[in-house]
Amino acid sequence: SANRKPVFVLVGGTGDLALRMLWPSLAMLDQDGFLDKDLRIISVAREAVDRPAFVERVRAAVQKRIGVDLEATTLDQFLPRLSHIALDASDPQWGAKLKAELGEVEALNVVYFLSVSPSLFKPICEHLESAGLSKAPNRVIIEKPLGRDLASSKVINDSVAHAFDEARTFRIDHYLGKETVQNLLALRFANTVFEPLWNAQSIDHVQVTVSETVGTGDRLGYYDDYGALRDMVQNHLLQLVCLLAMEPPSNFNADALRDEKVKVLRSLKPITADTVRDVTARGQYGPGFAEGKQVAGYEAEKGSPSNTETYVAIKAEIANWRWAGTPFYLRTGKTLPSRTTEVVIQFRPVPHSIFGSAAQPNRLVIRLQPDEDIKLTVMNKAPGLSADGMQLQPLDLSLSLQSAFDGNGDKPPRRRIAYERLILDALNGNNAAFVRRDEVEAAWAWVDGISAAWAEAYPKPQIYPAGTNGPMSAYMLLDRDHRVWND
Ligand code: BG6
Repeated sequence: SANRKPVFVLVGGTGDLALRMLWPSLAMLDQDGFLDKDLRIISVAREAVDRPAFVERVRAAVQKRIGVDLEATTLDQFLPRLSHIALDASDPQWGAKLKAELGEVEALNVVYFLSVSPSLFKPICEHLESAGLSKAPNRVIIEKPLGRDLASSKVINDSVAHAFDEARTFRIDHYLGKETVQNLLALRFANTVFEPLWNAQSIDHVQVTVSETVGTGDRLGYYDDYGALRDMVQNHLLQLVCLLAMEPPSNFNADALRDEKVKVLRSLKPITADTVRDVTARGQYGPGFAEGKQVAGYEAEKGSPSNTETYVAIKAEIANWRWAGTPFYLRTGKTLPSRTTEVVIQFRPVPHSIFGSAAQPNRLVIRLQPDEDIKLTVMNKAPGLSADGMQLQPLDLSLSLQSAFDGNGDKPPRRRIAYERLILDALNGNNAAFVRRDEVEAAWAWVDGISAAWAEAYPKPQIYPAGTNGPMSAYMLLDRDHRVWND
């Protein structure tokens, strides 16, 4: 495939994700010199737009997203790569028409990004296959929602697998494209100081928080059928759990890594109707204030009653030797007071304190959003004299990634769009940062258990006012274990 000419086909090229994220990502890859000089980019969408109008739309989208970091010459180089063709997936000629646009297929190396509704994956993959466009080395990129349960996700995976084998199927979880998510691997496996303590003997519990200030906005139609468990936990939170909990892989290749991740997912202790009220909390935002604006509440926005959760907290347990006895508490929700993605590793207390004041256990806090930093809380002697023994004080060893890499101090590095890394990896055929089919399915199997348990024993979420920290039940969840969330 080395001599083949590269082509990137973006199906859904006029869609919202393409304009907000994908065109800007491609343009920035070009700016940074990562795109082959021969790379052609073909946009496919139902909408017929002539080339000048299409190119203008992409130009505006890139400028809007990238702003001052866009260099003057980038678009001059990028835009000539683009073309657009109007194709409707229901057209039996879809494949033939795309083939005509591509030209000599045997001489090409094509990556297809299907930025369309998953209901179109099947017809599109059929078109690609029957037109002979899906053969190796061509690859496909798809993104969630990959089903809403295990059964429907299998149907989607099967329809793609017919045309593209697993090694050429790139399933995006955009959290895996984030700089700090990747950094979790470096932290664990490029240092010696953490890994010996990275187990139930030394770690009391782990917290993973993804809190968002936004509501469900104009995505309510999709969201109401999914809820926070399917929308966030099944993918992003469980991927974070995998990276935090997995065994060290023997190397950094895609399958070595994903073999270890899938073992974590398969070790998750099932949650049943008997335990679900003790180990999960469900919430839905009601009337309140978020992002400085009045929020009518989820049901009011929807205009009819709903039991969909916009907040979920879960005590997840990993039933293996490394983690038995060390829960992973997960929580995520919408219309919360802050936008934060954070991992807390709470170490166990010292076995015996020799000092007057109590030593607080060490805590490693890894912040992924909004700022990227890592803090290790360590106990110190409080300065000065004291009549009753040595006084202690927790202090942070703190690493701000933003300022650490802030070159000459004038301008912080550009925060990359997660899709930049993912598109680059797909172009290079590296699927380490993509989710393998067995991972998706193992995650669904666990999540399906929770959905079923909720349906039976916990059908209604608890209302929390928009702009507050989620339902009381999420706090009770930790309180029962004599622990507290790191707020
Ligand atoms: C998406 C979810 O996958 O991730 C959204 O569908 C959510 O509901 C988004 O808002 C969060 O991503 P990020 O990158 O903003 O943390």
